[in-house]
Amino acid sequence: MIVTVTLTPALDKTVILPDFRVNEVNRIQSLRLDPGGKGINVSKGLRALGVDSLATGILGGDTGRYIEKSLHEAGIACDFAWTDRDTRTNLKVVDPVRHTNTDINEPGAPVSAETLGEVLAKVEAAAGPGDIVVLAGKAPADTPDTIFADWTRRLGARGVQVYMDADGELLVEGVKACPALIKPNDAELGRLTGRSFSGIGEIVDAARQLISGGIGTVVVSLGGDGALFVTRDRALRGYGLKVEVQSTVGAGDSMLAALVCAAERHMSFRDGCALALAFSAAAVTTPGTQPAEQAVVDALLSQVCLSEI
Ligand SMILES: Nc1ncnc2c1ncn2[C@@H]1O[C@H](COP(=O)(O)OP(=O)(O)OP(=O)(O)O)[C@@H](O)[C@H]1O
Ligand SMILES: [Mg+2]
Repeated sequence: MIVTVTLTPALDKTVILPDFRVNEVNRIQSLRLDPGGKGINVSKGLRALGVDSLATGILGGDTGRYIEKSLHEAGIACDFAWTDRDTRTNLKVVDPVRHTNTDINEPGAPVSAETLGEVLAKVEAAAGPGDIVVLAGKAPADTPDTIFADWTRRLGARGVQVYMDADGELLVEGVKACPALIKPNDAELGRLTGRSFSGIGEIVDAARQLISGGIGTVVVSLGGDGALFVTRDRALRGYGLKVEVQSTVGAGDSMLAALVCAAERHMSFRDGCALALAFSAAAVTTPGTQPAEQAVVDALLSQVCLSEI
């Protein structure tokens, strides 16, 4: 079983609002509601790739119930721990006239140690040896920065592979537990290693250093410039695919979904990297965090360019 964990989910409310102005009455042209949060986005990507996963984490109130219902309708299995605090709603104002994207995010509520323990119990019940658990996104307010590290050690002791996508102290602590894979973007890798990079070679060196510390695979995403895929004995550079950009939000989550899918399907290293590049670039062509159609992914797969470093 593949399990995705989202400790701080949100309902993403995207409104299309031409000529958005502060201090004035603005009229929404259209709106959409999407369950959001990094682990949930990975589950949505996996669904689009035809791979089953269990989405877990923390939900609360009517907004939480709406997210659960939407995930069920999308064919994604869920088993969340529940709190009485309503899951937050994040407003995204897209202005097609001024070409702006404005995010107005609610703060997340603190969560009790019991609720976090409940989530871990659900993950441990669902994931066994050889399974993949995706720990992605932020931890709730007041949660120790070691939470992903602690969970990775516990899961690792049971033969579960952890794929981690986090930032800041959560990732600094997390890598000490040697996850099977991490997928920082270049800025996150800089914060993790305390370095600033002046070229691909330096990024690959930093990734190799992390691998010598015990991480299995380091994928460094570079936005429109593609990504680097580094393991103990290989490093591939994937060049950025040219696409019409609709929304880059969640591009990294799509990449992670493709990497999980590649592992689940025992794809070769090169084919897995190609899928990760094509699937994430395809996701950029859709609004919000929606995965792209298979045909778009297939067309991009034929354009992927990878070179050995
Ligand atoms: N403008 C773009 N054009 C083509 N591909 C892109 C573009 N932006 C992102 N991608 C693809 O998506 C991958 C992940 O993007 P990025 O590095 O922005 O991730 P991220 O910063 O983790 O994003 P997020 O955390 O918002 O999901 C890239 O490696 C690339 O393959
Ligand atoms: Mg990211």
